[in-house]
Amino acid sequence: MKDINLKGKSFLKLLDFSSDEIRYLLDLSKELKDKKKKGILHKDLEGKNIVLLFEKTSTRTRCAFEVAGYDLGMGVTYLDPNSSQMGHKESIEDTAKVLGRMFDGIEYRGFEQEIVEKLAKYSGVPVWNGLTTEFHPTQMLADVMTIEENFVNSKGLKLVFMGDARNNVANSLMVVSAKLGINFVACGPKENMPSAELVEKCKVIAKENDSTITLTDDVIAATKDADVIYTDIWVSMGEEKSIWGDRIKLLSPYQVNKSVMQNAKASAIFLHCLPSFHDLNTTVAKDIYDKYGLKEMEVTDEVFMSSQSKVFDEAENRLHTIKAVMYATLKD
Ligand code: CP
Ligand code: NVA
Repeated sequence: MKDINLKGKSFLKLLDFSSDEIRYLLDLSKELKDKKKKGILHKDLEGKNIVLLFEKTSTRTRCAFEVAGYDLGMGVTYLDPNSSQMGHKESIEDTAKVLGRMFDGIEYRGFEQEIVEKLAKYSGVPVWNGLTTEFHPTQMLADVMTIEENFVNSKGLKLVFMGDARNNVANSLMVVSAKLGINFVACGPKENMPSAELVEKCKVIAKENDSTITLTDDVIAATKDADVIYTDIWVSMGEEKSIWGDRIKLLSPYQVNKSVMQNAKASAIFLHCLPSFHDLNTTVAKDIYDKYGLKEMEVTDEVFMSSQSKVFDEAENRLHTIKAVMYATLKD
C-alpha cells in the first residue's frame, strides 16, 4: 500500500477518501481490535482532548467515541443536545472557532451535512461525522470490517440494502461499496431511492473498481444470491413521527424476513446499524403496535436473532473503527 497520511484530515463523508485510504483505516481498525483483545494498552494520544457534540441521541456512536478516546489516553467532553449554545445563541462558525481553540478534535452528530462541513472549515482541527441527515460514514467502516470478518474479502460481494434507501446509512453504504468494489443494490420503493446525483457519482466510482450500483423495487431479483442483506429503521431521527403510517405502508414489502434470507446465498449475513424495531421491547415499537398492529418492522425477530445476524459484532466494531479514525487523523 502507498504511503497514507491522514493527519489533520477531517472524516466528513467517504466521498472525500480514496479506496486506499479507506483500506488503510480498515487495516488499522483490525490492528487496534487485536490490541484491545490482547489487553495491550497504547495511550498514544495522551495529552489531547476531544469534544463530542450530539444534537441527536445515540448509544453506539457516543460510547464508541468515548471509550476509544479513553483507550487512546485522551480527555473527552460530551455536549448533549441541550447543553451547548450552538445553533440557538451562537453560530456554527463561532462555535467551531471556539472549540478549535480548546480541543484537538471534534465529533458532530446532528442535522445537515453542511453543519459538519462548516465545523471542519472553521475549527482548524479534525472533525468526525457521527451521523448527519445525509451520511453516516463511521458506521460504514464497522460494517465493512464485519463483512470482512465473515468473508475475508469484500470485493465482488453482493450487498443489498432493503427499505428506506435514501437515508444516511443507505447513502454511505452505496459510497463505500463503490469505493471498495462491492456490488451494491438499493431495494425499495422508487420514491425512496438515493438522489440521482449521488447515484451517478457512485456509478462512476464503482466502474473504476469493477463493481455495480443497482436500484430496484424487485425484492426477489435484488436479494437473489446476495452475500449481505442490510436494513435500517423506516423513520430516521429528525423525521416527523406523523410519517410512520405512510412509511409502514410504503416499506413493509421490503422487510427482511426468512424468505428474503432464504433467497440470498446460504452463507449470507444480516447487518443492521441499530437500533432496530424487531420486537415489542421498546416504547416506540409498542406505540406502533397499538396504532398499526405491527409486531416487528424492518426485520423480523427470527432473522435478527438468527446465526446469520452479525449485528452485535457490527456494533462492537464501531469502537475499533472510530478509534482508527481518531488515531489516523490525530497521531503525530
Ligand atoms: N448505529 C448507530 O449510529 O447507533 P447510535 O444511534 O446508537 O449511535
Ligand atoms: N437512519 C438512522 C440511523 C441511525 C443510526 C437515523 O438517522 O436515525
